Amino acid sequence: MNDSSRMGEMRSDGWLFTRAYAKVNLTLDVLGRRADGYHELASVLQTVALADTLAFRALPNGQIEVFCDAPALRGPENLVYRAVEALRGATGCRRGVRIELQKRIPAQGGLGGGSSDAAMVLLALNRWWHLGLARERLLELAASLGSDVPFFVLGGTALVEGRGERVTPLPDLPGMWVMLLKPSVAVSTPAAFRALTPADYTDGQATATLVSAIRGSALPSLDGLMNALEARVCQEYPAVAESRAAFFQAGAQFVCMSGSGPTLFALFPSLAEAAPVYQALLGEGRQVWLTRAVSRKEALRVVSLPGESDI
Ligand code: C5P
Repeated sequence: MNDSSRMGEMRSDGWLFTRAYAKVNLTLDVLGRRADGYHELASVLQTVALADTLAFRALPNGQIEVFCDAPALRGPENLVYRAVEALRGATGCRRGVRIELQKRIPAQGGLGGGSSDAAMVLLALNRWWHLGLARERLLELAASLGSDVPFFVLGGTALVEGRGERVTPLPDLPGMWVMLLKPSVAVSTPAAFRALTPADYTDGQATATLVSAIRGSALPSLDGLMNALEARVCQEYPAVAESRAAFFQAGAQFVCMSGSGPTLFALFPSLAEAAPVYQALLGEGRQVWLTRAVSRKEALRVVSLPGESDI
């Protein structure tokens, strides 16, 4: 097998296509505020099948070009661009690349879209350019790009701690349907964290309980899902509280916010249970996606050598 055939869809015309999956936070404990201004977290993250598409093609003379179908995300401040520069800076590699990015994951939704794109650039170019960076080094580069990026270097189901830089892989959850509902409001991540008071901090118990359940192959209890940022976000953004009520009204048994929001999610063991809820929310003209949990192997397939995704 040559290198390109191991890497997803490398076409004969030189384009390499990969997918960058979104995530949801099944739990998000905020343990406290750190001296550096960040917050200490304990969170179980899960990749879901909603994905952006990245296309890579070699460019001469070390040029870097990034094109995104969303005009607001075209500039050099896009994390994709910064990921290429971080990789080149770390290795001295001067190869050029054009990256075309088709956004499907809503930006600033709490679903990690930009972070996932950046992680996929690190993984794909490390492989394509034969840079040979070990996973630990990729995790460091990922952390330099943003708190959510390290998770996507592993994907699947994982425990994330610290600022986001400590990622521990967990066994895959059983297959399940994940419904996403995005309220029509933008929530700034720094503002969501700033709004927390010590009364909002949690002790990490919800995350620890879920981690034990997953390690013991028990089905996670829906009641155990929580997000320490959710109450304040609902308080400050009535559109999120309203969407949450609508999700329950449509038939969801349990609703949780992902990341700093505003996207809400609900889990369903079968499509038969999910479909009526999805139809009801669509009928109300809401932004809703019916997607599914994605295993680590599937999330990393496009950039893994045989055996390497079995962490
Ligand atoms: O790391 P990143 O730039 O993605 O974080 C965005 C913002 O979210 C930070 O500037 C900080 O305000 C907040 N944040 C935090 N604690 C974390 C992660 C993010 O306070 N663990």
